[in-house]
Amino acid sequence: DNDNPYLVSCSAPVNIAVIKYWGKRDEDLILPINSSLSVTLHQDQLKTTTTVAVSRLFKEDRLWLNGKEEDITHPRLQSCLREIRRLARKRRNDGNPDSAGLSHKVHICSVNNFPTAAGLASSAAGFACLVYSLAQAFGVEGDLSGIARQGSGSACRSMYGGFVEWKMGSREDGKDSVAQQVEPESHWPELRILVLVASAKRKPIGSTSGMQTSVQTSLLLKHRAESVVPRRMDEMTEAIRRKDFPAFAELTMKDSNQFHASCLDTYPPIFYLSSVSQQVIHLVHRYNRHYGETRVAYSFDAGPNAVIFTSQQHVPEFVQVVQHFFPPDANGEDFIKGLPVTDAVLS
Ligand code: PMV
Repeated sequence: DNDNPYLVSCSAPVNIAVIKYWGKRDEDLILPINSSLSVTLHQDQLKTTTTVAVSRLFKEDRLWLNGKEEDITHPRLQSCLREIRRLARKRRNDGNPDSAGLSHKVHICSVNNFPTAAGLASSAAGFACLVYSLAQAFGVEGDLSGIARQGSGSACRSMYGGFVEWKMGSREDGKDSVAQQVEPESHWPELRILVLVASAKRKPIGSTSGMQTSVQTSLLLKHRAESVVPRRMDEMTEAIRRKDFPAFAELTMKDSNQFHASCLDTYPPIFYLSSVSQQVIHLVHRYNRHYGETRVAYSFDAGPNAVIFTSQQHVPEFVQVVQHFFPPDANGEDFIKGLPVTDAVLS
């Protein structure tokens, strides 16, 4: 116990859902209306880096996001802090020493290496990283996905690398709504992900309020959650286990489309796709039709940026095709970021 702050630094990567999460059945605990499945990117790519400092000299908990101080009283942040401290207290009562004083306040600094809130799953990497670094600081171990979930639903999937399922669970207390690895990244080394950044702007409608209106008004979303996703989760898991790219790709595109259709079915409707997104969708289908097989798939989250799935051997050609139709803009901004999918080791 000295005056120097105890420091922990971690990074966590973004994950891209191939079976989408959209809609909560419990707003406070963040329990979803359907299970979802995602691929976690390599941790050197789109990622959040968080440093947590713990000191007995700090007067209050504080948080900086990309250099700007944010309101720490945000209920979801408070949930994560409270849960980690609760587990730390429990561990100490069980006779395990912790790494930092439990009563001490924390200063948290978090930086993204990609546009925040542009529908590139920034909150997923952000909360996964926050929870993991706090756990390290306070000496908490075990599955922390249930805590990351209470920060941002999709964050629970960034706690693991490779292919990750978030089981919706059936309990009211949410204890069984956790993430689980389906396959490690090493299972499918040929799989590649390209991110086509169509806009780095903040999305007009955040996922929280978007989901609320969708749950309240969209019958398609209800049908999707009850009758489509359960079967699709099994089919997707099978396709990943078999490394069946055409099956994986078709399910991925259909699920992205149904998510955006549910947004359109929301009243008033929500549009996350732009005309550039539509052009990318058409391009992918034309490309696949040209070869008479599914070589490339797209997926879009709550924003216009396309995430492309393909296999290693098709990357150079598809990148050329994209560059032909979407030449780099006047600022020389990169439209393509090629991201190998490798294991996301939280370090
Ligand atoms: O976890 P949130 O609130 O950022 O919601 C994420 C929702 C989607 O990205 C659109 C889908 C998903 O499963 O990641």
